[in-house]
Amino acid sequence: MSPSDAAVIVEARAPGRVNLIGDHTDYTGGLALPIAIDRHTVVRGASNDSPLLTLHSDQDPNPAEVPLPVGNVLDADPGWPRLVAALAHLLQLRRGFAGTVTSTIPIGAGLSSSAALEVSLALAFDQDGPRSPLAMARLCQEAEHLATGAPTGIMDQLVSLAGVAGHGLLLDCAVGEYEPIPLPPEAEIVVRFVAERRVADSAYADRVRACALAEAEIGPLRLADEQSVAALSDPILRSRARHVVTENRRVRDFAVALGAGDLGAAGRLMTESHASLRDDYQVSTPQLDRAVSAFLGTPGVFGARLTGAGFGGCVVALTKPGAVDDALVVQAVDGATVIHSG
Ligand code: GLA
Repeated sequence: MSPSDAAVIVEARAPGRVNLIGDHTDYTGGLALPIAIDRHTVVRGASNDSPLLTLHSDQDPNPAEVPLPVGNVLDADPGWPRLVAALAHLLQLRRGFAGTVTSTIPIGAGLSSSAALEVSLALAFDQDGPRSPLAMARLCQEAEHLATGAPTGIMDQLVSLAGVAGHGLLLDCAVGEYEPIPLPPEAEIVVRFVAERRVADSAYADRVRACALAEAEIGPLRLADEQSVAALSDPILRSRARHVVTENRRVRDFAVALGAGDLGAAGRLMTESHASLRDDYQVSTPQLDRAVSAFLGTPGVFGARLTGAGFGGCVVALTKPGAVDDALVVQAVDGATVIHSG
């Protein structure tokens, strides 16, 4: 066998994320400030000449086996094999691939295990790359829509691709622009897992619909102010829209506070964000509220909130180093990488 016949091994590695502030803003083109975290999903394998994708996961005894080319994504088994099929469909894969998926991101914990899986698979499968982080994030987002039907935004995939070590990423989801904001060295970010959730099962789509209804009445929420929101006739739509408008403002203020090293102000904004998600957006649960209160009662905690979609998942706190000893300390890391060798 000549060296050119040897299979090229590809290894794609994508991080999960914790959102520091700006939840339920991405799908109306608003602002968010997540970090990519030091928990990863890794896809390793090689293309081959068979008409089949075969992937073995360390999280599932059953492999994903997807015949190529993929016509109807919904023919694939629900769950992660369907995501594999959706990406193969969008990338128009014709060559087979055999490999493994391993992950240190807990599934269903609200730390974007799905986005990390999509990004690592897409980077491993893509034969037309490299694509920009935004183009890749959009492709992965579309795959998620096809596979799950949940109308999710772009935050998770974009930060998994474009994260910067030691920084939060200020995302403007209207245009897909991002700006790294340095995290002060004296800040620690900790997360505590509260309860498993699945976005597709939740009221997520209902919230997306409510925002669309509010926008039909007062125009884009990313451009609205609290005065225009007050003009909404329906009280539910009014509170949903108020969350979005005030959350966008909090993200801007949070980025300024971080930049100035004002952890007290940054923490207060996180805690206000939780109150808005609980009261106006109604995506918290009593367990999440208790977990946030427990953090806030701990000396050295600047602020805390639910992170991600809500309805379960994790809470995140901004703390002095070492303030909390029974939660997961996360580091902000660089976004996804792909290496071809062999
Ligand atoms: C989920 C979605 C994201 C975003 C968050 C809430 O993680 O995948 O696009 O909408 O919920 O901020």
